[in-house]
Amino acid sequence: SAPRPTDLVVFGGTGDLSMRKLLPSLYLLDRDGHLDPGTRVIAVSRDGLTDADLRGKAEAAVQGHRAVRVAEPAVLRRFLGRLSHITVDVGGDASGWADLAASLAGPPEPGRDRVFYLAVPPMISGAICRGLADAGLVTPDSRVVMEKPLGRDLASARAVNAEVGEIFSEEQTYRIDHYLGKETVQNLLVLRFANVFLEPLWNSRWIDHVQITAAETVGVGGRRGYYDTAGAMRDMVQNHLLQLLCLTAMEPPASYGREAVRDEKLKVLQALEPLTGDRVRQDTARGRYGRGTVQGSEVLGYLEEPGGPADGTTETYVALRAEIANWRWAGVPFYLRTGKRMDRARSEIVVRFRDVPHTIFPGAATGGGSLVIRLQPDEGIHLTMLAKVPGAGALRLRPVPLELSFADTFATRSPEAYERLLMDVLAADSTLFMRRDEVEAAWRWTDPVIAAWADPDLVPETYPAGSAGPAGADRLIGRTGRTWYEEE
Ligand code: BG6
Repeated sequence: SAPRPTDLVVFGGTGDLSMRKLLPSLYLLDRDGHLDPGTRVIAVSRDGLTDADLRGKAEAAVQGHRAVRVAEPAVLRRFLGRLSHITVDVGGDASGWADLAASLAGPPEPGRDRVFYLAVPPMISGAICRGLADAGLVTPDSRVVMEKPLGRDLASARAVNAEVGEIFSEEQTYRIDHYLGKETVQNLLVLRFANVFLEPLWNSRWIDHVQITAAETVGVGGRRGYYDTAGAMRDMVQNHLLQLLCLTAMEPPASYGREAVRDEKLKVLQALEPLTGDRVRQDTARGRYGRGTVQGSEVLGYLEEPGGPADGTTETYVALRAEIANWRWAGVPFYLRTGKRMDRARSEIVVRFRDVPHTIFPGAATGGGSLVIRLQPDEGIHLTMLAKVPGAGALRLRPVPLELSFADTFATRSPEAYERLLMDVLAADSTLFMRRDEVEAAWRWTDPVIAAWADPDLVPETYPAGSAGPAGADRLIGRTGRTWYEEE
């Protein structure tokens, strides 16, 4: 559908997320004709910036973004012209709210939408929504966008959802998990449900286990303050990795409709075997990066990163074994792992098939194949199968790849996750967003793990920056004779 004129109000509009992701993605949407000429972006912060200051910062952010390469001057000018800045002290005096109301200029013209994007810590989301309502800015078709992590546990997530829910209906609420906006993640559903050949194999009879990895080479950057309150479990596992697990494991929904897809994801979360007590000790591993060398550069350890204390128990790496207690998956481990400052950046889902029930090639290497869905870098799908090594001598088998590279196959550029999701918000399509009960079910599962980690025996193990992570992660998967997937 054609883009509608929208006032997009971004709280936290001068922050890290806004500069690194939102504004560059909006620029790309503008460049590609996805913003109505009348759409405006109003950045709200406490910073007291002028419009010109904001435009300067935004220009640098756009120019510095990898997907933009070289900004087109005319587009950049048009885009910057959409931006303005309003200073609001959310807990403070009301003058900022009045300024915001003035800039939105009274009740919106018919056909003009309002989107409030909360790129702020979740604990102030409720206060912002209340402020918006008190200032009379919430219209019946306004929408609100919330970032993850939504809360820090089940209780706080419920509280935030309830506060926001007093002002905005569930229909109006868009909970972002940007992994759902990634092209390959959406492709996972197409791969599973638009082809016939995987579904018959997609169960415990033919699948030995699944590995979901999100490894980054970056550290916490300037976000130490936030990260100390989160750690890898709240920052990555509770949302991104569990969403990937849901999409991998869910039953076929009856349609690609919003509720149908969310219902199936929710059922997976509800079927997760609780990780408590001794299982936490056995089936989870935590790590924290120390000093080291990442891709040729010396980097600081986590505890030396500015903006936080020189001690603490925040983890920057988590590995764990999850199980889904239902007919399809009983007995199939799902290994999840994520870490910062790893040797290389990659996000992928690896489905490891079982060995054949009986081999007719005694003495030759056997071993189940793997299906690898690579989210980044080099988005693609990679299927490993055994093939005969050519030659007249003894029969030898070797795993060989069947490779689908999106970049080589499709001439079109894959949009950034935030481009896709912002476009959906502007079009009022919430299929790729999380429903309240999903977020809460995810916390219900992660809370006991985080609580168990308070045990002094379970403090994070230090791994050198630029390494493959803590030894505990290898022990965890090695306990059953399995290993982490490495590309041949
Ligand atoms: C964010 C986390 O949600 O995802 C960051 O807060 C992390 O810590 C980022 O770096 C990773 O996203 P991507 O798209 O680069 O894999």
